[in-house]
Amino acid sequence: MTVIKVCLGSSCYVRGNNKTLEFLQDYIAKSNKDLSVELVGCRCTNLCQDGPNVFINDKKYSNTTHEQLIKILEAL
Ligand code: FES
Repeated sequence: MTVIKVCLGSSCYVRGNNKTLEFLQDYIAKSNKDLSVELVGCRCTNLCQDGPNVFINDKKYSNTTHEQLIKILEAL
């Protein structure tokens, strides 16, 4: 099981995570892969300066873009 946490604190939210949660939901739903993913939002982790932040299996990814997230998920 892969756990993806998307920071939905105000800084990450306005830096792009407002669209990331929906983007990931669509990507997972349309993926032909048998992905076992738990996708959740999380509160600010006080790492705002690095945002938008996404945590995949508790590893932090900073300044994330949708393209970067696809690459990470495809490598799983
Ligand atoms: S808002 Fe995401 S780390 Fe603070």
